[in-house]
Amino acid sequence: MAVKTVTFPDGSSVPAIGQGTWYMGENPQQKAEEVRALRVGIEQGLRLIDTAEMYAEGGAEDVVGEAIRGRRDQVYLVSKVYPHNAGGEKAITACERSLKRLQTEYIDLYLLHWRGGVPLVDTIAAMEQLQQAGKIGRWGVSNLAVDDMQELWSLNGGEQCMTDQVLYHLASRGIEYDLLPWCQQRHVPVMAYCPLAQAGKLKCDLLKAPTVMTVARRHGLSAAQVLLAWVIRQHGVIAIPKASSEVHVKENAKVLSVTLSTEDIALLDKAFPALSHKQMLDVV
Ligand SMILES: NC(=O)c1ccc[n+]([C@@H]2O[C@H](COP(=O)([O-])OP(=O)(O)OC[C@H]3O[C@@H](n4cnc5c(N)ncnc54)[C@H](OP(=O)(O)O)[C@@H]3O)[C@@H](O)[C@H]2O)c1
Repeated sequence: MAVKTVTFPDGSSVPAIGQGTWYMGENPQQKAEEVRALRVGIEQGLRLIDTAEMYAEGGAEDVVGEAIRGRRDQVYLVSKVYPHNAGGEKAITACERSLKRLQTEYIDLYLLHWRGGVPLVDTIAAMEQLQQAGKIGRWGVSNLAVDDMQELWSLNGGEQCMTDQVLYHLASRGIEYDLLPWCQQRHVPVMAYCPLAQAGKLKCDLLKAPTVMTVARRHGLSAAQVLLAWVIRQHGVIAIPKASSEVHVKENAKVLSVTLSTEDIALLDKAFPALSHKQMLDVV
């Protein structure tokens, strides 16, 4: 069965479901299980791994480093720089620290975690410098609203941004109004975080929502699988659920070949309608 993939503007391609790592690396007793879950995910085709220097203050990158040892070529590695490190020499040293923890020579896609006080021009310059040095393959951003993206596009080199990683799930659909179409028109994939609605202002227990469960029962899927299939139903969207249990990882990987029917989507739309007005970007 065909596996859903998403292509970045530079032509690199990844499966439409990856693996998140927020809250990994917090507890040393759970490290072995987290490493195992990520490895199972890679074996199941979830080759994009998303992490950040912020997660467990480097602890999540340590877990990822161990998980990808001996498997680096199979992985599309994404990490994020703190906004206060996202320019000048600080950006170079932050990236080098991440590389060390990740036990690799390069990060495939390096993101600005959110917009802070460092001007975007300085972030672009640092990203370009890291790229020229071969420390990162490409760069992108996270938590940028559509007006920030427009500003980025107006700057020299800004159009080289490969993705915007933002909060997106069935109960938080604000990006569909403006950011998602803006990105789709420019062939810039959106990376959906919290796809299972486990965080954010609109946090809710979507895993128990009656309509989600109805659709799940109809197809012999779990509620989580329905939520992920819904997120990646459209062109240019990657979901990055975090799962530290093997069972969850395997379940999530199966969604790469699930397509919801028009009827399923209509049912979900009725229970969780799309917005008809602009909304502030939802963030965690
Ligand atoms: N750029 C940003 O600002 C930003 C912000 C937040 C998150 N992120 C990224 O996005 C990733 C995903 O977001 P998130 O971790 O906040 O939330 P999430 O992926 O929506 O939810 C994670 C939770 O869902 C559970 N889960 C995973 N698969 C499941 C399944 N098949 N069935 C039932 N439960 C399942 C996990 O449990 P187990 O762990 O027990 O398996 C975990 O408790 C993060 O890990 C991080 O990499 C980025």
